[in-house]
Amino acid sequence: MSGIKKSITELVGHTPLLELTNYEKKNNLEAEIVVKLEYYNPNQSVKDRIALAMIEDAEKKGLLKPGYTIVETTSGNTGIGLAAIAATKGYRFKVYIQDQVSIERFKVIQAFGGETIKLGDEPVVAKVLAETGGDFVAAIKELEEKVLSKQKNIFFVNQVANPANPEVHKNTTGPEIWEDTEGKVDILVASVGTGGTISGAGAFLKSKNPDIKIVAIQPGPNSLPSVENPTPPDITGVHSFFGIPAERIPSTMDLNIYDEAFEVETYQAYEAARAVAKSDGILIGTSSGAAIYVATQLAKRPENKGKRIVAVLPDTGLRYLSTGLFE
Ligand SMILES: Cc1ncc(COP(=O)(O)O)c(C=O)c1O
Repeated sequence: MSGIKKSITELVGHTPLLELTNYEKKNNLEAEIVVKLEYYNPNQSVKDRIALAMIEDAEKKGLLKPGYTIVETTSGNTGIGLAAIAATKGYRFKVYIQDQVSIERFKVIQAFGGETIKLGDEPVVAKVLAETGGDFVAAIKELEEKVLSKQKNIFFVNQVANPANPEVHKNTTGPEIWEDTEGKVDILVASVGTGGTISGAGAFLKSKNPDIKIVAIQPGPNSLPSVENPTPPDITGVHSFFGIPAERIPSTMDLNIYDEAFEVETYQAYEAARAVAKSDGILIGTSSGAAIYVATQLAKRPENKGKRIVAVLPDTGLRYLSTGLFE
């Protein structure tokens, strides 16, 4: 069989696992930290998985037809994945992006021929965000009801409520971790944005071994907007789900899946991303840095001596060169 692929859709998934051997030694860790490098996807993030899955699911269900425009709201990586797959499949693509997202994301989507709109520039959304103090779930619902529902020949992807999102992690991310570790995995660490990764991969791993511990990453109190600091540097793509009203949590997040929620401040995520770049030569984004920080804290606990911690690293550090991450 030829090894030549015919579409980028064939390049999604099957990302490698890497043990951070130098980092473990430098930090005198007695547990293994193994990372799943999602930047090996064709457009360098975990979101390529859901982009392909949500598009093909909509095609199968007849919700997306030739000539339609694909529409999404996102903090970036999902937009990039969708833009690329829309390009290769011949659809138009339009995306509403959160205003504080790094400039690389806008440029990449535009390179794929996608149209980018700042979420705050859409008046309906801006109003809800101002009234609710930044409730994106409510803002997106309003956008759907007041703007998108009136447009014809579009498919609104809606990753925060699309069951194909967690489903693809259950069918691919989870099984890949299980197979590549030959079933030897004790702890899974994953960040939570839509919750798709942790809910799907976590469900698969728990179905194989109910004793596997699932640890979810939460932004720490100083990395969340407050009255004193309305726009703190954030961990891109990572949102609070702990202690906030249920209606503000994406339906793609299974609140019963995790055993522990671990808080990380943005500076801790930055420090971990810088450390592994120098120790093991991997360039990763802020949510990946957060996953390494959490895995390190877990590895230091005496009860985890000799255990294997698998941390999902969602994206590449190349997407953060315009931010302060590597300065
Ligand atoms: C950079 C980054 N990290 C982590 C996540 C969280 O992944 P999930 O949406 O599967 O919870 C996202 C999702 O928006 C992301 O863009």
